[in-house]
Amino acid sequence: MMFSSVGNFRALVPFFLVLLPCLAQNSIDAQHEATGFPPCDILIAAGLGDRLVLATSDAYEPRVASWWSANARFRPWCFFLPTTTYEVSVAIAALDKTGSGAGDWHIAVRSGGHGFPGSNNIAKGVTIDLGNMNGSWYDAERQVASVQPGGRWKDVYANLLDIAQVTVTGGRDGGVGVGGFLLGGGVSYHTGTNGFACNTVTNYEVVLANGTIVQANGNKNSDLWKALKGGGLNFGIVTRFDLEAQPAVDLAYGQNVLIPGSSDEVIDTVVEFTDRSQGQPHDHLITMYASTPGNKGVSVIAIRVNTQGDLNETAFDRLNKIPTVSSTWAKMSLADAANASQAAGGTRNTQSTLTFLNSPKVLRYSAVLLEQLMVSLSEKIGAENFAAQMVLQPFPKLYSDVSQSKGGNMLGVERIESNAILWVGGVAVFSDDAALAIAQAESGAMTEKLKAFIAKEGATTDFIYMNYADPSQDFLGSYGSENLLFMKQVANHYDPKGWWQYRVGARSASIRVTPH
Ligand SMILES: Cc1cc2nc3c(=O)[nH]c(=O)nc-3n(C[C@H](O)[C@H](O)[C@H](O)COP(=O)(O)OP(=O)(O)OC[C@H]3O[C@@H](n4cnc5c(N)ncnc54)[C@H](O)[C@@H]3O)c2cc1C
Ligand SMILES: *[C@@H]1O[C@H](CO)[C@@H](O)[C@H](O)[C@H]1NC(C)=O
Ligand SMILES: *[C@@H]1O[C@H](CO)[C@@H](O)[C@H](O)[C@H]1NC(C)=O
Ligand SMILES: *[C@@H]1O[C@H](CO)[C@@H](O)[C@H](O)[C@H]1NC(C)=O
Ligand SMILES: *[C@@H]1O[C@H](CO)[C@@H](O)[C@H](O)[C@H]1NC(C)=O
Repeated sequence: MMFSSVGNFRALVPFFLVLLPCLAQNSIDAQHEATGFPPCDILIAAGLGDRLVLATSDAYEPRVASWWSANARFRPWCFFLPTTTYEVSVAIAALDKTGSGAGDWHIAVRSGGHGFPGSNNIAKGVTIDLGNMNGSWYDAERQVASVQPGGRWKDVYANLLDIAQVTVTGGRDGGVGVGGFLLGGGVSYHTGTNGFACNTVTNYEVVLANGTIVQANGNKNSDLWKALKGGGLNFGIVTRFDLEAQPAVDLAYGQNVLIPGSSDEVIDTVVEFTDRSQGQPHDHLITMYASTPGNKGVSVIAIRVNTQGDLNETAFDRLNKIPTVSSTWAKMSLADAANASQAAGGTRNTQSTLTFLNSPKVLRYSAVLLEQLMVSLSEKIGAENFAAQMVLQPFPKLYSDVSQSKGGNMLGVERIESNAILWVGGVAVFSDDAALAIAQAESGAMTEKLKAFIAKEGATTDFIYMNYADPSQDFLGSYGSENLLFMKQVANHYDPKGWWQYRVGARSASIRVTPH
């Protein structure tokens, strides 16, 4: 599920399957006849038939294709595409009454569809697809932007820039959705100054399990407000996020494609940059490794950003000394940068994540493991059929310090005592499910090897970031027992029947605060 980070992969990594942008066709069938699928029929009975898309509709396959990963493209009994919070509320109250049919496991929730396969869609049931709730507004008096969950960050940035010349702390890849990103925490170009994106949420509008609509903020339902800052889909469906906004300033933005053989110098640069983060909160660096088609080596791309638009910024001087194949550096709006940085989906993806203390030795070993993965997968599934990928991101103490100063969140990263690296490794598979299974096994084994090495080096942190994790990783458990207990208490309070725990299907245990 690369690149869980960002980057103009469409331009830079042409071997990714580039799909035509599957703009969801939002024409909705007027659907009034019974379908035979209990949750779909109960929505029709509730008067929401006009919001359903069934397999017999022309809008169905384009909607299926709007999920980012090919292996997330399940075909539900029906899509429910609400346009208002009220419709979400009516639907949840109605769905509460269906318990038969396929049993309890028959609902999934989706915003931008970039989350990991199984978290956001369901084959045997109804997928609540918030894609048509994609608006954004600005309240100048309160300096707050209200954003609906189904928007994509590129559109949110473009709209807020257009209507009020303001911006918010959101995604770097413009195709990523608002809802999942904010509910998982959110690492942004602005995290060095504003904290995780969830720390900029001043209010959530939420539909609870019994269909009630509530507001959660610092004064009202403040326990829910806090739990939603990183706690995911355990408390309700968020239908509006109110976000702190700031004047939109053009970024200094660039991508260096480094010449082959640069990895050692890249790693030393990343380590040094990470350790300097405290003094350069406006500077942001992401490095991405990807195997080239036919497995002819690794390509390393470095993305540099200065959020104040300072083209003379010296923080990247060392990086800029590494010879490049191509290099860009220019001022542009966040809206344009996000639009230009959309990783093409459409491949089968598997990835996992680790966070470890800032160590050149561990980073070097991770690069060795990536090469080994490439060799082994070339033998097993064919060099033409995959791209192995790895993303290295500075994860300085600064991020948790800023987040703590804004009231904290559920991630528990304040327990990490020093600067760290947020690591993602995985594989995009171009062929079939059999190859994906092999890639998954090999990639998982790579992560375990890295984990063991990290432990040996004394660089372990417990933190597993939900937004980058594999479903088998216990990310909520990694947020610390105190935070986990708090999330359970909040879930019990707002959802005493465990609706979000047991009615939402195809989710792994690690996504639920109270697994079976
Ligand atoms: C190409 C790419 C780039 C990325 N870049 C970044 C990045 O820069 N920084 C970063 O932190 N992460 C990044 N990510 C990870 C990303 O934040 C997660 O994949 C996130 O879940 C995507 O949000 P979404 O709305 O598109 O996801 P979805 O798949 O729609 O949702 C993800 C999860 O959230 C739940 N959910 C969604 N909306 C709601 C709602 N309104 N109410 C309740 N539950 C909801 C879903 O049920 C699902 O479990 C990236 C991922 C990809 C694939
Ligand atoms: C946003 O939602 C509207 C309906 O509210 C829909 O017509 C439009 O296509 C959506 N935009 C995207 C990019 O999905
Ligand atoms: C940046 O450097 C250029 C020369 O390289 C100079 O002309 C310009 O004034 C500098 N800008 C800032 C903001 O310092
Ligand atoms: C987004 O990027 C695409 C491809 O580079 C370009 O064609 C399009 O005009 C851009 N959209 C906006 C709104 O800038
Ligand atoms: C809905 O659930 C909330 C949270 O448990 C509760 O406060 C509220 O009274 C419930 N409303 C109804 C109508 O049952």
